Amino acid sequence: MKIAILTSGGDSAGMNAVVRAVVKAAILKGCEAWIVREGYEGLVRGNVDASPNSALPPEAEYTDFPIAAMNIIKNLRFGDGQLLKDGIGDYASGRTLKGRYIVRVGWDDVRGWFTEGGTLIGTARSKEFRTREGRLAAAHNLIKEGIDALVVCGGDGSLTGADVFRAEWPTLVADLHAQSLISQEQATNHAHLKIVGLVGSIDNDMSMTDLTIGAPTALHRICEAIDNINSTATSHSRAFVLEVMGRHCGWLALLAGVAGGADFLFIPEKPPSSRPWEDEMCATIQKHREVGKRKTLVIVAEGAHDIDLNPIRAEYVKEILTDRLGLDTRVTTLGHTQRGGRPCAMDRILPTLQGMKAVEALLEANPETPSFMIGIQENKITTVPLMEAVAMTKAVTTAIEERDFEKAMKLRDPEFRE
Ligand code: F6P
Repeated sequence: MKIAILTSGGDSAGMNAVVRAVVKAAILKGCEAWIVREGYEGLVRGNVDASPNSALPPEAEYTDFPIAAMNIIKNLRFGDGQLLKDGIGDYASGRTLKGRYIVRVGWDDVRGWFTEGGTLIGTARSKEFRTREGRLAAAHNLIKEGIDALVVCGGDGSLTGADVFRAEWPTLVADLHAQSLISQEQATNHAHLKIVGLVGSIDNDMSMTDLTIGAPTALHRICEAIDNINSTATSHSRAFVLEVMGRHCGWLALLAGVAGGADFLFIPEKPPSSRPWEDEMCATIQKHREVGKRKTLVIVAEGAHDIDLNPIRAEYVKEILTDRLGLDTRVTTLGHTQRGGRPCAMDRILPTLQGMKAVEALLEANPETPSFMIGIQENKITTVPLMEAVAMTKAVTTAIEERDFEKAMKLRDPEFRE
């Protein structure tokens, strides 16, 4: 099997570890490993350069797989695998990449990638891939390289795109054949596309999984920032309003509040129930001050709003704390400092285990099985139907839009099934 991997949507720590794991697992299982640069955009663009793409000669030499630590990973025993002697795909040097978006890679090409932040193979938000024409070009490019399986690492939008692509695949193949762009043999050999999704997002907003790749690192960054802010806050007895990312999800804000000792926080799923919420916030903070707290921390998730869905902005919270409680207040917006940088240990372990599982899932998949998403539930790596997880994730946003906050909170529970 030829397995390609791409990263899509916003980058997150751990995406490189996913690529590394998928590439290595694919090679260990006797498959060819390919990467697609720049997400779906690379799939649409394909390889402009016409030189042979299969950089690996079939007679390439192999040596023993040297990483004993991989012993711990299910189905892989030390010595099972083989190591390509040279970094033949030459990804790091960029030599084989000019005009090529779909590139075969070897073992050494991904060596040490799990320590790097962001995604080394690039990501993009592709307008082209949203059109059928774009997906037709993408299918053609995959078939030209003989690729029959795709691993997509991204958020819910990217994973939905993957499932649309797979569902449409037979008609894309038929069109390519009708336009004489592929042979009958290619059409027969590529009758189905296997797809597996891995959730790369700092927001931890995907249902049916406890943790998304990149969320633990982002949370860690926020905690570090809170620790830094706390020094100043305590020294000056100040209040800080911290705005954190998360889009429609309050996970980062909520967990940072627990880990950083926040006095009050705002998340989209559970806005303050009282009207006006300003009174409730001030009363809580006043109480904390009265029992001797020298500093105040309020965390605002970027998607926070009140019970009537009016956005709650950090600057406005600052005004309230200043005007009503007389607190010397500052706003800190962490922005993209939360998203980048070196992955923490969990964002190396989780993508490694999930990447291995993704390859297993592809090898076990058949035309009847749905596209799968690899998740983690109760500390176990899981395989769940991709579109079920996406639908449940979308249902949370709908519940929030409909102001059914109780339902929104319930839907965030990975065990919840309607
Ligand atoms: O989904 C990840 C995320 O970082 C969100 O938390 C945030 O709302 C968004 O992406 C920011 O997107 P961009 O990097 O395009 O500004």
